[in-house]
Amino acid sequence: MAERSLRGKVTVIGGGGKNLGGLLSTTFADEGAKVVVHYNSDSSAAEAEKTVNAVREAGSEAISVQGDLTQVSEVRRLFDTAVDTFGGVDVAVNTTGMVLRKPILETSEEEFDRMFAINAKAAYFFIQEAGRRLNDDGKIISLGTSLLAAFTDGYSTYAGGKAPLEHFTRAAAKEFADRRISVNVVAPGPMDTPFFYPQETPERVEFHKSQGMGNQLTHIEDIVPVIRFLATEGWWFTGQTMFPNGGYTTR
Ligand SMILES: NC(=O)c1ccc[n+]([C@@H]2O[C@H](COP(=O)([O-])OP(=O)(O)OC[C@H]3O[C@@H](n4cnc5c(N)ncnc54)[C@H](OP(=O)(O)O)[C@@H]3O)[C@@H](O)[C@H]2O)c1
Repeated sequence: MAERSLRGKVTVIGGGGKNLGGLLSTTFADEGAKVVVHYNSDSSAAEAEKTVNAVREAGSEAISVQGDLTQVSEVRRLFDTAVDTFGGVDVAVNTTGMVLRKPILETSEEEFDRMFAINAKAAYFFIQEAGRRLNDDGKIISLGTSLLAAFTDGYSTYAGGKAPLEHFTRAAAKEFADRRISVNVVAPGPMDTPFFYPQETPERVEFHKSQGMGNQLTHIEDIVPVIRFLATEGWWFTGQTMFPNGGYTTR
């Protein structure tokens, strides 16, 4: 039986330099994983380097790789770099995403294309490349949103852009099953990171809080253990969407 731990495992974390991805990188490193920390914007480079240093201080190995994952060639370069550096990949987590809260009647073609490029296209080719490059018994985890289980306005291109992830994941789970590669979506509730606030009013933040247990938002510390579980003892989950959200939405 394959070892169900992260010790010595090579992990690629899309968006792994900060926020949820940053905490994942350092948590995986604490458990002995080698980490490829991906980041996108120049403005994220410093945080990515800080995360790489934190992994090294934890006694593990890490590199950072910059890339716009809406370009398929960049997704491939990310995995090529991981394989060239560490000899293979065992776990691939894609935390990248982009949010927009806008009525359908005001959404431009350019906004639609950008939202689907990062939330759907990049996610698809991340799964494809992970499926090509992962070792047997690998794990692929993508970040969705609890809005996948909501009935609400304003998030047509965000929830709509993340929705295909579930079908990409189900198909990949079947197609990669002969190599025991599990593929899942983790769909958090509204998370207390800088990603969440710009499109919300203070009143809406209070409403989002009121929908979670104990009147609180989701914290990255609540999500990392779920992803860690899927990457280790939770390997028997595949093709699923999990909603860690304190009761915010369900289906
Ligand atoms: N915060 C929430 O309320 C919430 C709730 C549910 C689900 N989620 C999901 O959880 C994930 C992590 O979110 P977070 O809160 O930790 O915020 P975050 O750190 O801002 O995560 C988004 C990541 O996507 C990256 N990204 C954007 N465009 C990209 C591109 N073209 N190519 C590659 N990477 C790109 C960003 O990189 P740069 O900043 O370097 O461009 C960033 O690292 C996201 O998928 C999000 O949709 C968030």
